[in-house]
Amino acid sequence: MKPPSGQSIRLACLLLNLASLCLPTPLRENRDSLMEEEKAHQTGGNLVLSKQEQQLSTKLVSLKRKEVAAAMNVGQFPPSMHFFRAKSLIDQSTVFSILKHMPKGAVLHLHDYAMLSVDWLVYNATYLPDCYVCFTRTGTVRFRFSRPHPPHPVPAQCSEWVLLETYRKQLHNVTEFDNSLMRNLTLVTDAPELAYPSQTFIWKRFEEVFLIASGLICYAPVFKAYFYQGLLELYEDNVQYAEIRAILPPVYELDGTRHNKSWSVATYREVTQRFVEEHPDFLGAKIIFTVHRMLNVSQIKEAIVTAMALRARFPDTLAGFDLVGNEDEGHSLWELKDALTIPSSLGVKLPYFFHAGETDWQGTSVDKNVLDALLLNTSRIGHGLALIKHPIAKKLSLKRDIPVEVCPISNQVLLLVSDLRSHPAASLMAEGHPIVISPDDPSVFGAKGVSYDFYEVFMGIGGMDADLRTLKQLALNSIKYSAMLPDEKAKAKEVWQKKWDQFVADLSDSFLREL
Ligand SMILES: *[C@@H]1O[C@H](CO)[C@@H](O)[C@H](O)[C@H]1NC(C)=O
Ligand SMILES: *[C@@H]1O[C@H](CO)[C@@H](O)[C@H](O)[C@H]1NC(C)=O
Ligand SMILES: *[C@@H]1O[C@H](CO)[C@@H](O)[C@H](O)[C@H]1NC(C)=O
Ligand SMILES: *[C@@H]1O[C@H](CO)[C@@H](O)[C@H](O)[C@H]1NC(C)=O
Ligand SMILES: *[C@@H]1O[C@H](CO)[C@@H](O)[C@H](O)[C@H]1NC(C)=O
Ligand SMILES: *[C@@H]1O[C@H](CO)[C@@H](O)[C@H](O)[C@H]1NC(C)=O
Ligand SMILES: [Zn+2]
Repeated sequence: MKPPSGQSIRLACLLLNLASLCLPTPLRENRDSLMEEEKAHQTGGNLVLSKQEQQLSTKLVSLKRKEVAAAMNVGQFPPSMHFFRAKSLIDQSTVFSILKHMPKGAVLHLHDYAMLSVDWLVYNATYLPDCYVCFTRTGTVRFRFSRPHPPHPVPAQCSEWVLLETYRKQLHNVTEFDNSLMRNLTLVTDAPELAYPSQTFIWKRFEEVFLIASGLICYAPVFKAYFYQGLLELYEDNVQYAEIRAILPPVYELDGTRHNKSWSVATYREVTQRFVEEHPDFLGAKIIFTVHRMLNVSQIKEAIVTAMALRARFPDTLAGFDLVGNEDEGHSLWELKDALTIPSSLGVKLPYFFHAGETDWQGTSVDKNVLDALLLNTSRIGHGLALIKHPIAKKLSLKRDIPVEVCPISNQVLLLVSDLRSHPAASLMAEGHPIVISPDDPSVFGAKGVSYDFYEVFMGIGGMDADLRTLKQLALNSIKYSAMLPDEKAKAKEVWQKKWDQFVADLSDSFLREL
C-alpha cells in the first residue's frame, strides 16, 4: 500500500485538532531558539548552576508560580499593591521567608538615618535619660538630649522643651504616645494615596522624618548604638557588607559639645570594626559622604574639598561622594559641574556614587542627570529610573560596566512607579544590564533590611522569568560593584560563597522534607 503523503498526514493532523503535535519543526525550533536567546540575555542568564542549584531553582520557581496563582485568585498581588498595604501579605509568603534566609551579599544604597527599624529609636533611644521633646504646630515632634538645662534654643515653630520622662508619667496611655512617635519617624499610613497627594508633598514629609530622627541619632551615645544596631539588622537579614550614604552632620554630647565630620567618620569606622570583631562573617561597611543638592555651587565646592580631605584621612572607610534630596527640586549635576570637576582637575581621585534620574519628568535637567553622572565618571547610578529613556547613556553605562542601584520600594512610596511590575528595572533585567538591589531608606518605608526589595524584584519586576540564577547574579553583582578593594572583594566573595552553598544545601533539604 502506498504510504500517505506528508501533506495528507498534516491535513489530517490539523483537522483532528492536533495542530500542536504537528507544527512544522522550523517554527517550533525558531521559537525555542529565540526564547533561549532571550533567556541568555537576562540577569543571571549566563550563570551555570550546579545540579543541586538547578533543582532548587525549579522548585523555587514553582513555589513562586503557586503564590502568583493564589494572588491572582484573590486579586491581590503584593508587587502591584502599595507596599504599606502589601507588607502584611509579603510577611506571610514562603518565597519571602526564603529570600530572608538567602545570603544577599552587599547593600550598596542605604542612608545613614534610615537603616534601622524605628522601634529601636522609640523604645530604646527615647527612653534614655535626659531626652527632651517639643511639639511643632504642624503635628510633629523634635528631640534633643541635654543636661543639666533644657536645651537652647527651641527649634523654630516648636513648643517649649519637655523632659520625656516627666511627660510620659502624666500620660494615660504611653503605648499610644509611643506609637505616635513611630508615626513621626516613618511615612507609613493606612491610606498613602490620601496622605501623600503629590511628590512635592511626600518629599517634604520625607525630609522632615530625617530632621525628627536626627535629634535622636545625632546624640553621640545614640549615634554609636544606632549604627551598631543598624549593622545588626542588616546582618540578621543575611547581608554581608554595606555602603552607607552619610550626611555627617555634627554629632553632639549632653553638654552641647559638637563633633566634626572626622569624628563621625572615625566613629563609623570604630563601630564597624567592633561589629566585625563580634560578627566575623560580616565584612564591614564604608561611608559615602553626601550633601544636599539644594546647596549652591560654592557650598558644594566646599563639600567637595571636605570630601577629598576625608578620603585622604580615611581611605579605607570613605568610599566617595554623592548628592541627596529630591532631584526634581534641587540642582542638577550639570549646574554643579564647576564643583564636581574640582577633584579631576586637581588630579585627585574622588569616586562618585550619584543619585541620578530618580524622576518621571523626561527631558528635564534632572532627567539628563543620568548622562551627566556618567560624564562625571560616576561609579554607580542611584535609582536611574530615567536610564531606559536614554539609549546613549544606557549604552555608555553598559560599556563602562556601571550598575544601576535599584530600590523598588523607595520608588513606589515616593510616587515614581505604582505597580512594580512596570518598574523600569524590568527592562534592565531582561537585557542583563548591571544592577544591584538596595533598600534606600527601609525604616522610613516600614521595611527592614533588603529582603522586601528582593521580594518585589523576584516576584514582580523579574516576573516568572526570574529564577535562582537571577538571585545569585544579584548577590554576586552587589559584591562586584561595591567600593571594596580587590582583596576585600575576594574575601567577601569567599565568605558569601560559603554561605550560599549552605543556603542551597539547607533549602534543598527543606524542600525534600516537604515532599
Ligand atoms: C531595647 O528596649 C527593649 C525594651 O526595653 C529591650 O528589651 C531591648 O533589649 C533593648 N534593646 C537594645 C538593643 O538595647
Ligand atoms: C507625632 O507625635 C505627636 C505627639 O504625640 C502627635 O501628636 C502627632 O500626631 C505625630 N505625628 C504624626 C505625623 O504621626
Ligand atoms: C493604649 O493604646 C493602645 C494603642 O492605641 C491600645 O491598644 C491599648 O488598649 C490602650 N491601653 C489602654 C489601657 O487604654
Ligand atoms: C576635627 O576635630 C579634631 C579634634 O577633635 C581635629 O583634630 C581635626 O583636625 C578636626 N577635623 C576637621 C576636618 O576639622
Ligand atoms: C551660597 O549660600 C550661602 C549660604 O546660604 C551664601 O552665604 C552664599 O552667598 C551663596 N553663594 C552664592 C554664590 O550664591
Ligand atoms: C572622567 O574620566 C576620564 C577618563 O579617565 C577623564 O579624562 C575625565 O577627566 C574624568 N572626568 C571627571 C569629571 O572626573
Ligand atoms: Zn537614596
